[in-house]
Amino acid sequence: MNILPKKLMVLGSGELGKELAIAAKRLGCFVIACDKYSNAPAMQVADESLVFDMQNESVLISHIYKQKPDLIIPEIEALAVTALQRIEQEGFKVIPNARAVTITMNRDKIRDLAANKLGIKTAKFAYVANKKEINNVINDFNFPLIVKPIMSSSGKGQTLVKNILDLEKAWDKAIKEARGKSQKIIIEEFINFDLEITLLTIKQRNNSTIFCDPIGHEQSNGDYQSSWQPAEIPIDQLNKAKAIAKKITDNLGGEGLFGVEFFIAGDEVIFSELSPRPHDTGLVTIISQELNEFELHLYAILGLPLPKKINSKISSSKVILSKKDIKSVAYIGIDKALVNSQTRVLIFGKPNAKKGRRMGVALAKGKDIQEARFNANQASNSIEIFENNNINSV
Ligand SMILES: Nc1ncnc2c1ncn2[C@@H]1O[C@H](COP(=O)(O)OP(=O)(O)OP(=O)(O)O)[C@@H](O)[C@H]1O
Ligand SMILES: [Mg+2]
Repeated sequence: MNILPKKLMVLGSGELGKELAIAAKRLGCFVIACDKYSNAPAMQVADESLVFDMQNESVLISHIYKQKPDLIIPEIEALAVTALQRIEQEGFKVIPNARAVTITMNRDKIRDLAANKLGIKTAKFAYVANKKEINNVINDFNFPLIVKPIMSSSGKGQTLVKNILDLEKAWDKAIKEARGKSQKIIIEEFINFDLEITLLTIKQRNNSTIFCDPIGHEQSNGDYQSSWQPAEIPIDQLNKAKAIAKKITDNLGGEGLFGVEFFIAGDEVIFSELSPRPHDTGLVTIISQELNEFELHLYAILGLPLPKKINSKISSSKVILSKKDIKSVAYIGIDKALVNSQTRVLIFGKPNAKKGRRMGVALAKGKDIQEARFNANQASNSIEIFENNNINSV
């Protein structure tokens, strides 16, 4: 029996948590939004907000005991996964499950599973636990190569290393910007890809796995800038990507939506990484699909019926970034962005900005991908973020 409403504890209250909270509120669920700072985007639409350090195991556990949520939904990577493992053993439901959350937040764990255990093609990689070990593996790689921390997101601590002289600097950056205290880094072969895609993969409890149309995306310094759907890739490559996504999500288990990232290089389909939750590049589905990625995640989690095939209308997304540090943000140009009726703007509602922080996203349709991307770019460029000296006017 499918009883609603459910009490959901959303761990991470950024833009992705906010859209999930909106979808959950539409189904009448009770949403508790958690994050390390107050008035975070998801908190603005949730029933209750909790501000605490979600990387602190005992604090996270005590909040879960107190709230007794039906479902615990991680929306970010930076969590005390040991807490999730413990409370799952006590009968709490973690989405998709504590093991999947643990594996996907560690580059070594997901690589070990994909490449070593499941035999999935990835970029060539090696782990290095200390600076001296670099010499043992470096001869197996050509330059440029990529150095990444074992744990980080949004490209943090990642460097494209062009020659051996730059390796040490890249190492220091990876260690400095890593999440956690690990001294281990990963060295990866640089893939000169034609296109990178996210394949949103929805794993259901009692039905077969379904897929959204592939989403193409562009990243800068490891951080998402724009995405578009459907990305054009040959059908046999798409089928290969689907088979890989199914294999890995079957192994991870549970139910919900996963964002599976691939590089398309010539004939090859190369697995990169995956999120066991909605993906930032999938924000485009808010305009392109009947059920967006957050609704699909929630439907799968709640066991609600999903279509066999998910269609998309040609659309694009382009991030809106702050150009400077701002204490209290205001926006101009949203009116200008919306003059084009094919365009929508999402302002996340983050209370303050840092230079380069993602504050919103422009979404646009078009007759073809080129036009959709042009429209989204125009809309994003129309919007300026500035210091709001008159808070009362908002
Ligand atoms: N081996 C590689 N070859 C070429 N480009 C790469 C490689 N690894 C990463 N990149 C580029 O850097 C981006 C970010 O890398 P990755 O997804 O591993 O990092 P991340 O910090 O986990 O990002 P996310 O925000 O998705 O969690 C990729 O989308 C891709 O554009
Ligand atoms: Mg990524």
